Amino acid sequence: MQVTVGLDDLRGRVRDARRGAGARAVSFVPTMGALHAGHLSLVRAARSRAGFVVLSVFVNPLQFGPGEDFARYPRDLERDTRLAAGAGVDLLWAPESAAMYPAPPRVTVSPGGAGERLEGASRPGHFGGVLTVVLKLFELVAPDVAVFGRKDFQQAALIRAMARDFNLPVEIVVAPTVREHDGLALSSRNVYLDAAARTSATALYRALRRAVELFRGGERRALALTDAARHVLAGTPGVSPDYVACAAPGDLAPVEVADEGTVLLVAARVGATRLIDNVVLGEGLEGDVHVSR
Ligand code: PAJ
Repeated sequence: MQVTVGLDDLRGRVRDARRGAGARAVSFVPTMGALHAGHLSLVRAARSRAGFVVLSVFVNPLQFGPGEDFARYPRDLERDTRLAAGAGVDLLWAPESAAMYPAPPRVTVSPGGAGERLEGASRPGHFGGVLTVVLKLFELVAPDVAVFGRKDFQQAALIRAMARDFNLPVEIVVAPTVREHDGLALSSRNVYLDAAARTSATALYRALRRAVELFRGGERRALALTDAARHVLAGTPGVSPDYVACAAPGDLAPVEVADEGTVLLVAARVGATRLIDNVVLGEGLEGDVHVSR
């Protein structure tokens, strides 16, 4: 596996991979590091779609609000390098903040209404920061395919919308959520959970399961589905729900009546840690991947 930091060096290496004897297509997995099995499943999806896989590790300051965990976000490039090499990444790119943002950007991407709901309402400015860095990363890597996780459903929907609205020449692939054996969605932030919080954190998955169960039983009223999910969250010690919502998958607009494509999204504070999860009601949770014990 190649490893690089510099922006020009990255461009050169990707150009070489494209031009080389194999003339490989390029797939791209952007991450903030602290890699886990969820990230590595994206690498596998990327591998199956192109001969040259680029993985970026960059903790993007622009998407963290004041008082959020930017400073203490887990960083371990040595471990990430090991895991990325084992998963079949061809080029790991870990740019420095000073190279990505030599000056605060004057021009940023505005996510529009879909970026102001749900996560966007709880984290003002977050999605503007995400889309701005993803557009920069796309410009630098120039991938044919980019792979994102469904775990961050709203983020993936906004990136799809940006690619469409700006005619970006990249195919966006969204891969299933990878979960622990007990259903907790893998997240770099799970390392913040102490033993009690880790136990309570399964409430998000249990809340999604309850909603799917009701949906399968014929319940279509969004309020009944979200109330049931909220009840599971609120009934778990140490868990305080932030939002529980039924939304349309494209623009995340609230719906009153759920159908097969409706996504149910939850966010909750578990101890001091904020976690999110979601399920597409018509698909249920069976398509998600569980890591073994
Ligand atoms: P990060 O949280 O590191 O996630 C990188 C990618 O991994 C995202 O596409 C995310 O949805 C995916 N992912 C995280 N947990 C997952 C899980 N349990 N199963 C499947 N996929 C999972 O998301 C970001 O970084 C940043 O916002 C980024 C897009 C890199 C822009 O800075």
